[in-house]
Amino acid sequence: MRNKVALAYSGGLDTSVALKWIMEKYSSDVVTVTIDVGHAEDLDWIRRNAERVGAIKHYTIDAKEEFVRNYVHPAIKANALYQGKYPISTALSRPLIASKLVEIAKKEGANAVAHGCTGKGNDQVRFDVTIAALAPELKIIAPIREWKLSREEEIKYAKEHGISIPIKPESPYSIDQNLYGRAIECGILEDPLTEPPEDVFELTASPEKSPDKPEYVTLEFEKGIPKSVNGSEEGPVEVLKTLDTIAGRNGVGRIDHIEDRLVGIKSREVYECPAATVLIEAHRDLEKCVLTRHELGFKQLADIQWTVAAYSGLWMDPLMEDLQAFTDKTQERVSGTVRIKLYKGSCRVVGRSSPMSLYSRKLATYDVDTTFDQTMATGFIELWGLQTKIANIVKRSNL
Ligand code: ARG
Repeated sequence: MRNKVALAYSGGLDTSVALKWIMEKYSSDVVTVTIDVGHAEDLDWIRRNAERVGAIKHYTIDAKEEFVRNYVHPAIKANALYQGKYPISTALSRPLIASKLVEIAKKEGANAVAHGCTGKGNDQVRFDVTIAALAPELKIIAPIREWKLSREEEIKYAKEHGISIPIKPESPYSIDQNLYGRAIECGILEDPLTEPPEDVFELTASPEKSPDKPEYVTLEFEKGIPKSVNGSEEGPVEVLKTLDTIAGRNGVGRIDHIEDRLVGIKSREVYECPAATVLIEAHRDLEKCVLTRHELGFKQLADIQWTVAAYSGLWMDPLMEDLQAFTDKTQERVSGTVRIKLYKGSCRVVGRSSPMSLYSRKLATYDVDTTFDQTMATGFIELWGLQTKIANIVKRSNL
């Protein structure tokens, strides 16, 4: 019986080269699967390209809404910023792509699945762990990893085999894009001292060239989920698109940091995540209004665990569900409105309100009509500082 492989196909360099290589090396039939999570490319072009290179069948799956509801929304609820900066946009798409790939592999009776990840990145871990958790019987082929081709060698192989790839010599970047953000790697960006040149950015205006007047956005959250932008209720996909446009034109959402990959490598990563940047800033602020400080303190720890697990390919680990249960419970009260001011690359929350807010003006005010009894403060401070006082007395007596 002939081998049959289901390949996750984005239409880019890695997966196009992988397609040809699997056909040759494993004498396999290859079914290509493109899972649309909002990458900007032309899906028809991708289909034609897959068929031109030799796929026996091609699937295009629109997973945009599922991506936002089941992956992006939990990330917003968890204020997910890996190492304080990266909204894990690429990472979130991987378990979804892997699960769709497994679905098609089963439907097609394939004995293996394949992806175009290299052996140096995080994506291989995310794909492999998710696939193994869902279908341990499926063999996993990772041509670029097995074959250890450099980017230049891949380009040469593609040229020799007449594979068209959307890279021009003057644009040597590797891009991964979805509705939640855009990751840009390679080329000059590998020098961490060099400022990313303007031509790597597509979703954001340069802050220097963005409007000279600030723009305000009003966001409405319901149970931790963004429901409307500037008063108009929108679907989950549209909320992200609208915010990308508004924040992007104000230069908001550019991220440049040194990131620790799972495989131990430190890498310089550049992202554009306009919607994600605004959403997390706003969501975090609203949480501060409605959750107690005890909840906030614990949630911060849970958020980091959730983010690291999602980044690290552990989407299918029971830990994710456990943490999600806690997070969802807290989000029952995270409803309300947040006002944000965008101006030349900066994004600041300038107002918030919620029916569940624990903020009380009557308690907080320095005006005369306060309900806070200041005489209680002295007793509280006495007890609060008790151990600190004693510890210092003991320290001095032992000098
Ligand atoms: N460093 C990011 C991550 O691990 C982005 C990876 C981008 N992937 C890519 N194939 N270009 O999530």
